[in-house]
Amino acid sequence: MARYAHITGWGMSLPARVLTNQELARTVDTSDEWIVERTGIRERRVASSSQTTASLATDAALKALAAAGLSPRQVQLVIVATSTPEHIFPATACLVQDRIGAVSAGAFDLSAACTGFVYALSVASQLIQTGAYQNAVVIGAETLSRIINWKDRSTCVLFGDGAGALVLQASSRPGGVLAFSIHSDGSGGDALSLPAGGSRLPASHETVEQGLHYVSMNGREVYRFATRVMAAATREVLAKAGYVLSEVDLIIPHQANQRIIEAAAKQLRLSMDRFFVNVDRYGNTSTASIPIAICEAFAAGRLHVGDRVVLVGFGAGLTWGAALLQWVAHAPVPAARWRLSGLFIVRAIAWLRSMLRRLSRRVEAFFFGERGDTGHQ
Ligand code: UT7
Repeated sequence: MARYAHITGWGMSLPARVLTNQELARTVDTSDEWIVERTGIRERRVASSSQTTASLATDAALKALAAAGLSPRQVQLVIVATSTPEHIFPATACLVQDRIGAVSAGAFDLSAACTGFVYALSVASQLIQTGAYQNAVVIGAETLSRIINWKDRSTCVLFGDGAGALVLQASSRPGGVLAFSIHSDGSGGDALSLPAGGSRLPASHETVEQGLHYVSMNGREVYRFATRVMAAATREVLAKAGYVLSEVDLIIPHQANQRIIEAAAKQLRLSMDRFFVNVDRYGNTSTASIPIAICEAFAAGRLHVGDRVVLVGFGAGLTWGAALLQWVAHAPVPAARWRLSGLFIVRAIAWLRSMLRRLSRRVEAFFFGERGDTGHQ
């Protein structure tokens, strides 16, 4: 029997702090007019010192699980697509798995920059469609404010922080993720990168002095690339699934620049009202931009049961890709048992369980000592 990967829950998390163009113009040589005209961005969100990629991702994931009526204990897979992981390792997804109490789940990060969410959705949907997994939580989460040079006007005006998550569940009913196409062209890797902090250029006084831990971008090159691939990827994913553009109800593009979205619309000969755009309020939140836009599109009444929706993105790598969905969810599940008990309690229980596990490791180390049973003779 055919299996489908349905989207049954969705959630987002945004820092409360709003940073407007006017505020930015007080610290770098820019203006509200320039930013709005060239990008469409008016404001973005910036994480507080206590917020991290994992904390935003955890918030979004718990909301998505509540909407789906799925208990964290039932979750089988957690994927976090991110360009700003908490560490090189452990994976941010493992931290999220622990914090949401997904005790039976496998967890990993996926790195494909701003296209990461489309990549992650493709992986998760295939693991479900093959029958390997019953469900997955797919998250896009970023704290890009931590890797931006706030003195560089060519990049600091563009990015923002946030997270969005979807719950995918197996179903025998047609719908959900219908097709995807993902691509990469590593020859363009230097157009958008974080030069230092990895194994090639480990952190040193020199790398920090030279500002190599900040986003480095050739904006014009990325712009040209983006306007080439957005329309092409949309057409490709539709052809794969056997649909034509007139059968698509909504396109949710990566929110990087209003002009890039308009260029894609022009190439596809579609009016802008077939696109969902919120880049004005959040800037480019990389992997989080598409899932945040999905949440907002649903809240705005722009997603209905049966709608065909194209998600399309591009980013560093260079990477690009698209996914075609058929929306199947009416509204968040109204009275899931664990939802009634509240997100706070779910989070508190997960925290307590995590503490107990840490404690049991300490106790084990205390009794067995440094020379405990390691199997080594
Ligand atoms: O997820 C992928 C992430 N990256 C992207 O999506 C980036 C794609 N690229 C873009 O969105 C656009 O290329 C930018 C918005 C980054 C730049 O817009 P542009 O129209 O390509 O501007 P430009 O780079 O050609 O720069 C035009 C001028 C330059 O001055 P000169 O050389 O003409 O005197 C820049 O120095 O604008 C200047 N400029 C600014 N002026 C005021 C660059 N940044 C700013 C700024 N405020 N923030």
